[in-house]
Amino acid sequence: MKNKENLLKELNIYLANLNILNVKLHNYHWNIQGRGFFELHSKFEELYNKASEDLDQVAERMLILGSRPAASMKDYLQLSTMEEKSSEGISSLDAVKALKEDYNLMYNHSMEIINLAEESGDPVTADMMTDFAADYEKTLWMIRAYLG
Ligand SMILES: [Fe+2]
Repeated sequence: MKNKENLLKELNIYLANLNILNVKLHNYHWNIQGRGFFELHSKFEELYNKASEDLDQVAERMLILGSRPAASMKDYLQLSTMEEKSSEGISSLDAVKALKEDYNLMYNHSMEIINLAEESGDPVTADMMTDFAADYEKTLWMIRAYLG
């Protein structure tokens, strides 16, 4: 029971972080400047669409587990462990560097939650998080390749 409570608490934080990430990706999508604008503008759109799908899946998983997910920006800002970015222009290089940190955070948190889900005998949540982790690994590889 203790494990399940812990799992639900972390899923709520994870959900809050995905919401912050979704907003940040829109910020980068709109405000990047410089070389690679066209490709990154599209890439960030692809990434925020994925974050948006993922956050819906996490919230619905929490409901399936009998818990009510956070559903307001106020809650997300309180729960989140990810820093927001201010509304201003950002170079394409700085945006990708910042994203590397964001995706590292999401990846590490997803790995933590996989362990918690396994400890609380919930392979379905572990499986969902494993899919997310695999996706972050791929995104992080692409980010590293971009940064050279
Ligand atoms: Fe757009």
